[in-house]
Amino acid sequence: MNSVYLDNAATTQIRDEVVDEMFQIAKNHYGNPSSTHSFGRSSRTLIESSRKQIADHLNVSPSEIIFMSGGTEADNCILRSAVRDLGVKHLISSKIEHHAVTHTLDQLELDYPIEISYVKLDSLGNVDYADLELILKSSTSKTLVSLMHINNEIGNILDMNLVSGLCKKHNALFHSDTVQSVGHYKLDLSSLNIDFLVASAHKFHGPKGIGFAYIKKNNPIKPLIFGGSQEKGCRAGTESVHNIIGMSEALNISINRMESEVAHIKKIKTYFIEQLTKCIKGVEFNGSSSDLTLSTYTLVNVRFPVSKDESALFLFQLDMKGIACSKGSACQSGSDASSHVLNNILTDEQNKFVSLRFSFSIYNTVKEIDYVITQLKELINR
Ligand SMILES: Cc1ncc(COP(=O)(O)O)c(C=O)c1O
Repeated sequence: MNSVYLDNAATTQIRDEVVDEMFQIAKNHYGNPSSTHSFGRSSRTLIESSRKQIADHLNVSPSEIIFMSGGTEADNCILRSAVRDLGVKHLISSKIEHHAVTHTLDQLELDYPIEISYVKLDSLGNVDYADLELILKSSTSKTLVSLMHINNEIGNILDMNLVSGLCKKHNALFHSDTVQSVGHYKLDLSSLNIDFLVASAHKFHGPKGIGFAYIKKNNPIKPLIFGGSQEKGCRAGTESVHNIIGMSEALNISINRMESEVAHIKKIKTYFIEQLTKCIKGVEFNGSSSDLTLSTYTLVNVRFPVSKDESALFLFQLDMKGIACSKGSACQSGSDASSHVLNNILTDEQNKFVSLRFSFSIYNTVKEIDYVITQLKELINR
């Protein structure tokens, strides 16, 4: 077996249908969508049709979808603008958000006189909803809650209904980083009190460098970068037409095939957990990631009976066998820094061991899992 790609939470393989569609668009629809001539109008029509399709999937108005370069830009734009333009003075978040959120909050704290509160988490990384309500209740200034739907490292799922209800009750804005859930779960925003969410196409078999922000009406977000008046003045710069079409095509396919694809990926995750537990003594799972009712079907975070000092070597040896997985978020894989998510939830004792994230897609097979288990067994028993 040459290669097994189990790092789908970092990025996914683009679908052939999406590449074909993008190629056709890039070749034939090169007009600038802001131009008023027919070339421009044809690009504009394609963009607006994509916006409508995406909005329909989320059950929102097309005017509430703003195209951006991806999840990082969308998180930055929303959080910074909420403080700068919407008068938010108090942000409530968690210590295990993606760095696109945590580092933005750190910077906001340096730039503005704001308060940031972090909700308590249990030992599995689940948000303490009672603590969230206590913080909300005692908040005296305009407040925004930023909590991710699905944690990209441990897969825990936030109770969006509960959090959106609490935000409504306490008159707080609600932003959710949904990068790991859009394209993997159906989200009906008409029944959720959510003000902002973000998505990134490369997480659901679409192209890299494109995503979108959902910005609920009446939240006049202003741009992060200045220039033209594209995207209702929210995001300057010529729209990446082929990327936008590729993203909406990828989302259409993911949503249309969701039932069968979810069933396949769930089977892969379940089998991997079963085999790990059966074949490797001392394996543990981080967060709620081994529980399919509490975590996403797309990933599992495994703690091996191997010293953490050997993390880099362990990953390298797997790589040599053609197996791609990761220590945590791809953004920090190149560095020696250990996962801020695991550092915040594991005990010192648990954190002495190698933890790896394995994340799955429709392209994975049971045969690949058998190969990975054989290689893991060999490495650990050496
Ligand atoms: C939860 C989460 N938020 C944000 C991002 C950043 O998205 P992008 O790669 O589109 O900037 C990622 C990607 O790793 C993610 O997993």
